[in-house]
Amino acid sequence: MTNKRALIVSALVSAVLCTTGVAIAQDKFKIGLILPMTGPFASTGKQIEAAARLYMAQNGETVGGKKVELIVKDDTSAPDVTKRIAQELVVNDKVNVLAGFGLTPLALATAPIATQSKTPLVVMAAATSSITEASPFIIRTSFTLPQASVSMADWAPNNGIKKVVTLVSDYGPGIDAEKYFKDRFLFNGGQVVDTLRVPMRNPDFAPFLQKVRDLKPDAMFVFVPSGAGAALMKQYAERGMDKAGIKLIGTGDITDDDILNGMGEVAVGVVTSHHYSTSHNSAVNKKFVAAFEKANAGLRPNFMAVGGYDGMRVIYEAAKATKGGSGEELLAAMKGQIFESPRGPMFIDAQTRDVVHNIYIRKVEKVNGQLYNQEFETLKDVKDPGKKK
Ligand code: DHB
Repeated sequence: MTNKRALIVSALVSAVLCTTGVAIAQDKFKIGLILPMTGPFASTGKQIEAAARLYMAQNGETVGGKKVELIVKDDTSAPDVTKRIAQELVVNDKVNVLAGFGLTPLALATAPIATQSKTPLVVMAAATSSITEASPFIIRTSFTLPQASVSMADWAPNNGIKKVVTLVSDYGPGIDAEKYFKDRFLFNGGQVVDTLRVPMRNPDFAPFLQKVRDLKPDAMFVFVPSGAGAALMKQYAERGMDKAGIKLIGTGDITDDDILNGMGEVAVGVVTSHHYSTSHNSAVNKKFVAAFEKANAGLRPNFMAVGGYDGMRVIYEAAKATKGGSGEELLAAMKGQIFESPRGPMFIDAQTRDVVHNIYIRKVEKVNGQLYNQEFETLKDVKDPGKKK
């Protein structure tokens, strides 16, 4: 070919490509990642986005023969915004998968879009048990509050904690935490002397903590969403509740690895139950933590990051197995995946589409001057106790 002919051919090719934008779009594999990137839950968005980008950097940007496009959108943690963004991503961008979902109400608001458009929706953060029942297209890679809460209700009565007050955020995951902790703790012979619920947004813990002080339980069992634990820990310390002998226990959301180091001495000794700790002792986790910190100026990955990282794994493997197939094909390939996560062994139960993984009992300890959730007991392969089947 002469240079002139080559130029003409390339001009023609570009013209054809421009007029067949749809065909090009189908050569891409699009993931719509909707997260709270601003507002009080921005740390969840930041952790998950960073983890998703790390997964892509480590695993390449082509999967099943298609170029992966990650479209990140900020829903400001408002459910109507999440739903609208999801609709736009499905209709305009023709995404293959919806993912993210930093809070329960955001996942629930979007569930009908997944069902109507037959688009798999991967929940990477939200953790109310019932979410997976809101659409047959929902898959979860985070955790459930019943998994963590029941595990703590089994540990506490064997460790000198007989009388408890629960204090939870007043929405889906908090209500799950309260119910599943209380039922199992009573079954185990414990006593729950009060169940307190605080507003989900901008809670003032002071009056609730005063009430707990007056009731003098052995421990206060707490659930607050990721990021909110620091304020509670500060007020718990200011009121001298630890000195008054009221222990703090809860799900690992309260001693979130992202903010744990800033909590200071009061956090040392706090026992929680959760599926992930930055200090989880495995080769896979050490590699994950080192790579995450390197890519994010020393930021520690928390359990949100792991939900995002594992969610990307589930999406990539489904895209690979189906060569970027239809929503239904992708969903089928997501079900039943089994692999080693930075959290430990994990699988997606094909029946429930929910995560099955270990729950660890951990204690905050200072290691080389830094605070960590040190795992010391393992409950293996915990299914969501909230599922009927
Ligand atoms: C949810 C949010 C959180 O930040 C968390 O730690 C657990 C659950 C939720 O809204 O489902």
